[in-house]
Amino acid sequence: MRASLTAPSLHTARLRLRSFNGADADDLFALQSSGHILRYWDAPPWSERSRAEKFIATCRQMEQEGTGVRLAVDRVSDGAFIGWCTLCDWNPDFRSASLGYCYDDAAWGRGYATEAARALLGWSFDTLELNRVQAEADTRNAASARVLEKLGFVREGTLREDCVVNGDVSDSWVYGLLRREWQPSADPAPTR
Ligand SMILES: CC(C)(COP(=O)(O)OP(=O)(O)OC[C@H]1O[C@@H](n2cnc3c(N)ncnc32)[C@H](O)[C@@H]1OP(=O)(O)O)[C@@H](O)C(=O)NCCC(=O)NCCS
Repeated sequence: MRASLTAPSLHTARLRLRSFNGADADDLFALQSSGHILRYWDAPPWSERSRAEKFIATCRQMEQEGTGVRLAVDRVSDGAFIGWCTLCDWNPDFRSASLGYCYDDAAWGRGYATEAARALLGWSFDTLELNRVQAEADTRNAASARVLEKLGFVREGTLREDCVVNGDVSDSWVYGLLRREWQPSADPAPTR
């Protein structure tokens, strides 16, 4: 039986990454029910608020089962919830996992997704002793591809007709970041 995981609390210059709690359900639902924000997501926007409660319950389940963590991201300056990031599909035998993220459109373009992912990757490489992190992005999602490239991910290929969402067939890029390629930021190390 694999060990459970404890979601860390991480701090960057502008952000706080923390465990989800029940009070996040409204903000999370607002985020995940937006067709604009999720236009390149691999699942349709939510239409029922109960999806937010289920998502938060699944965060705890992921930790208990040791498959990964999802962290809510708050902006330090005003305490606002701006989105979330995840390290999931952890495979201790392969020392691999996957990265994902979603942010409110009002917070886009300020480097927040990259800053939060860098903190989560730092924790992941240090704590889980990963060798590889994988991420996938719809080939139309230039902003997500750019985030991954800023973090040092290498585009390794294309998954042709990978997703069908609301009848739209889309291709995905596969990105990989290896431990030996990982370059922690010059920022101060995140603290627990
Ligand atoms: C993708 C996403 C996480 C990016 O968040 P963000 O906080 O804006 O990301 P950052 O500011 O750290 O970096 C975005 C980069 O993409 C660039 N960018 C944004 N739109 C772009 C476009 N249409 N074409 C090319 N580059 C673009 C920005 O200029 C920036 O690069 P730079 O720092 O070199 O200028 C955000 O748009 C999001 O949450 N989208 C909805 C959910 C989603 O698609 N998640 C990813 C699923 S794979």
